[in-house]
Amino acid sequence: MLKKIAFAVCLEAIAGWIGQSGLVHGQTPNQAWLEYRPLHTRLSVPMRVEVRGQSRTERAAADALVRGLRSLGGESSEEEGADSIVLATAQEMSGEKKSIVPALAADEFQISWRKDQSLRELDIVGGSERGLLYGVFALLRHLADGEDMSHAVIRERPAMAIRWVDEWDNADGTVERGYGGRSIFFEGGKVREDLTLVKEYARLLASVGIDGCDVNNVNNAAPFLEPEMLKGLARIADAMRPWGVRLALSVDVASPEKIGGLKTYDPLDPQVKAWWKAKVDEIYAQMPDFAGFTVKADSEGQPGPASYGRTPADAANTLAEALAPHGGVVLYRAFVYNHHLDWNDPKADRARAAYDIFHPLDGKFGPNVIVQIKEGPIDFQVREPVSPLFGGLTQTNAAMEVQITQEYLGQQRHLVYIAPMWKEVLDFDMRVGGASTPVKKILAGTAFHRPTGGMVGVACVGRDGWLGSPLAMANLYAFGRLAWDPDLTAEGIAEEWTRQTIGNSSKVVGTVDQMLMQSWPAYEDYTGPLGLQTLTDITGSHYGPNVEASENNGWGQWHRADREGVGMDRSVATGTGFAGQYPPELAQEYENAATTPDHLLLFFHHVPYTWKLHDGKTVIQYLYDSHYAGAARAAEFVKDWEGVKGMVPPDLYKDVLARLEYQAGHAIVWRDAVVQYFWRLSGIADEQGRAGSFPGRLEAEDATLTGYQVIDVKPWEDASGGKAVECGSGPEGAAPQSCSAEWTYKGGAGVFDVAVEYFDLQGGAARFEVDVNGKAASADAEWTADATLPSRRPDGDNSTRRIVRGVDLKPGDVIRVTGTPDGSDPAALDYIEITPLSH
Ligand code: GCU
Repeated sequence: MLKKIAFAVCLEAIAGWIGQSGLVHGQTPNQAWLEYRPLHTRLSVPMRVEVRGQSRTERAAADALVRGLRSLGGESSEEEGADSIVLATAQEMSGEKKSIVPALAADEFQISWRKDQSLRELDIVGGSERGLLYGVFALLRHLADGEDMSHAVIRERPAMAIRWVDEWDNADGTVERGYGGRSIFFEGGKVREDLTLVKEYARLLASVGIDGCDVNNVNNAAPFLEPEMLKGLARIADAMRPWGVRLALSVDVASPEKIGGLKTYDPLDPQVKAWWKAKVDEIYAQMPDFAGFTVKADSEGQPGPASYGRTPADAANTLAEALAPHGGVVLYRAFVYNHHLDWNDPKADRARAAYDIFHPLDGKFGPNVIVQIKEGPIDFQVREPVSPLFGGLTQTNAAMEVQITQEYLGQQRHLVYIAPMWKEVLDFDMRVGGASTPVKKILAGTAFHRPTGGMVGVACVGRDGWLGSPLAMANLYAFGRLAWDPDLTAEGIAEEWTRQTIGNSSKVVGTVDQMLMQSWPAYEDYTGPLGLQTLTDITGSHYGPNVEASENNGWGQWHRADREGVGMDRSVATGTGFAGQYPPELAQEYENAATTPDHLLLFFHHVPYTWKLHDGKTVIQYLYDSHYAGAARAAEFVKDWEGVKGMVPPDLYKDVLARLEYQAGHAIVWRDAVVQYFWRLSGIADEQGRAGSFPGRLEAEDATLTGYQVIDVKPWEDASGGKAVECGSGPEGAAPQSCSAEWTYKGGAGVFDVAVEYFDLQGGAARFEVDVNGKAASADAEWTADATLPSRRPDGDNSTRRIVRGVDLKPGDVIRVTGTPDGSDPAALDYIEITPLSH
C-alpha cells in the first residue's frame, strides 16, 4: 500500500512567498486572474491538502492550491484526521484502497468526492501530472467564481492538443508588436539572469491550460539556435517546466547557412538534413521536453524553401523528421505571401495566397507537422472572413493562429475583448463536403480524423503587467479557455474572468462583462466596418487612421475606395476569384454582393456608395452611422466604468478610467478621419448632417495665433479640416518659448466642457494650458503631453483629446490655449470643441 501522505504541503514556507509576491506590483499573476480575493464565505472544500507524488509539477500544483485556498479566505488545517483534498495522478491513485480510478487521457482530470469512513476526501486525479495541475486550477476557478463545490463532480479534458502562446521576443529585449514592455525572457542578446517573471508567466499560462510557449520572434530567428543561446533557453525551459509549459522556438530555415556554415539551406540537401538532425539532438540533450519549432518562411523577407524551388512541405518535413524521434512538432505558418504584388492588377490578391500555396500540398506534410493558419486570410484585421484554408486541408493537421496582442486592435490602449471574434471563427461552419464542419472541430482534429491540431495565440507579453493594460488580460485568459474548450461562450468567459480579476458583485460583473462584450463591435464600428479591415496605417504604426495607406503599394491590404465606390472584388466571375476558395455553399454565398453578409460585403465586393445593405441603408450612410455609433459607445465605456467606482480596487479604477477616457477621445479621431475621408471622396451628404459639421468646434488654424504656424497634417483626414498648428521654429529660426491660439467665444453664457484636440508626440513632453480672459479655465486646465504614442509627426496616431471640465463662458470671452514645446514635441494643436457639461 502506498504511504498515504507522500508529501504534506508546507504552508509556512508558502505563506512567506505569498507575502512577498504581492510586492512586485504589476508583475505577478496576482495582478491578473490568480489573485483569488477573499470570498467572505466558508469554503465548500477541505483546507487540508495532500499530494501523492513528489515531482516538481505535483508540488507546484499543491503550492498553487494552498496559496489559492488561503487567499480565498480558507483557514488552513494540518491536523491528521480532517477532511482533505487529495492530489494524485491516476497511476498514483490506483494503489489507494477503495479508490475507483477513472481511465484518464494525459491532460485530463477528474474532481470528485470520496467518503472514507467518517472522512470526506475531494480527489483531484490527473491522467498525468499536468492533468492534475489543470484540475487544481479548475477547482480554484470554480471556487473563485463563488460556486458551491461540496458535491462537485467534474471531469474535463482539453479539446485541442496544441495550446500554445507565441511570443515575438527579440534577443535584444524588444518585443515585436508587444505593448507590455520589454521581454521577460531576453536582454542584451542573452537570456535574462532573473527568470522570476518567466516562472510567474508559466503559472498564469498553466492556470488556463496552455501547455506550450514559443519564446522568440518569427522574424530573424537564426541566432536562437547558437549553442550559447540554447544554454540560456534551457534555463527558460526549466523555469516553465513545473507548470507543464514546454518551450518551443521559432526557427529560420536558412539557419544551416546563417549559423551552420553550410553553403546552402535547401531542405532536401542531405547535408542540410543532417545539420537539422544534429541541431535538434543538441536541443533535446538540454531540453528533453522541448515542444518544437514554429516556422515563418518565404514571407515578408524571411528566407524559405522557394529559393530552391522547394515547397513548404519540403521544408516542414525536413524539420519534422529531425524532431519526430524526440516527440517534437513543427508548426509551419501558412502566412506565406508576396508583399510586392502589382497594385494595378485586378486579379492580384494577397488573400488568395495561403490557400493557393498550401491547398495543393494537402496530404504531403509529415504526421508531426501542423499548418498554422491565421484566422483570416489577411493579417489580424478587425474583421476578415474565416480563412478558407481551414476547409482546404483535410489530410493535414491544422492550428489556428490568433493575436492576443492587439496589433491592429488598438494596441492595448483601446479596450477590445477579442473572444467574441475568436468564437465566431471557432463556431464558423466551413461546410466541407456539404456537411457541418465547424472550425473548432477541424482544430480539435475530429472533423477530418487528424491526430493533432489546436490554437496558437500571439501574446507578446512584457515586463509591464504582461500586456500593459489590465482589461486586456481578459484576452489572454479567454484564449486559454477557448483552446481548452471552444464550446465555452465569450460572455461566460468574460464573466469568469471578471469575477476572478475585477470583482464578484453583480454590478461589477454586469458592467465589466457588458463593456467587454461591446468592445470589439464598437472598435469595428469606428475603425473599419463592412469588411473594410482596420483602416489604419498599414505600412507604419498599425494604430491610428490612415485610409489610403493600404492602397498604391504591394502589401495587398487594398480596399480600392474611389469616387464611385469601395471594396475589393474577390468574386470568381469578375474579381480575384478568392470567393471560389471556399467550399461550394460558402463560395456561392460570397460570390454575389446580394448574398454576402453585410459585415463582409466590402471584403468581397466593390460596390457603389449607394449600394443598399440588407436593411435598406446605403453603404455610405452605414459608414457615417457606424463611426458615430462606435465612438458614442466608446464614450459610454467611461460612464459604465464610473458606475463601479468604489467597488473595484482604487488603483485599478484610476488606471482603467484614464485608458477609457483616452480611448473615447481617440475613437473620435477615428470617427472624424474616416467619415471626413469618405464624405469628401464620395461627395454624398450624411442624412443626419453630421459629416463635415462640428457644432462647437473652433479650428486652431482659424484662431488668432501667436507663435503657432499652420501646418498640413498627413494624411489630411487625421486633422479636423486637414490642418493643425505647431509651435516650431519660425522663419527666423529660433524656436519660441511657447505659442498660443485665441478664439473669441460667441455662444450663449453657461458652464461647458472644453475639449482640446492636440498631438502628443514622442521626443518630448510639451505642456498645454487653457485660460479664459487670462485666468485658468478650470482646475484641470494644465497638463503635460507625455504619453507614449506612435509617430514623430502630428497625425492620427498621436492626436489626443483632453477635456477641460466645467468652464464658465459668456459671449465675448477670449479662450486661449498656450502650448509649450519640449524636445521634438512642438505642442501641435488641432482644435477646441465647446460641448455641454458631461458631469
Ligand atoms: C504582421 C506583423 C508582423 C509579423 C507578421 C507575422 O504582419 O505586423 O510584425 O511579423 O504579421 O505574423 O509574421
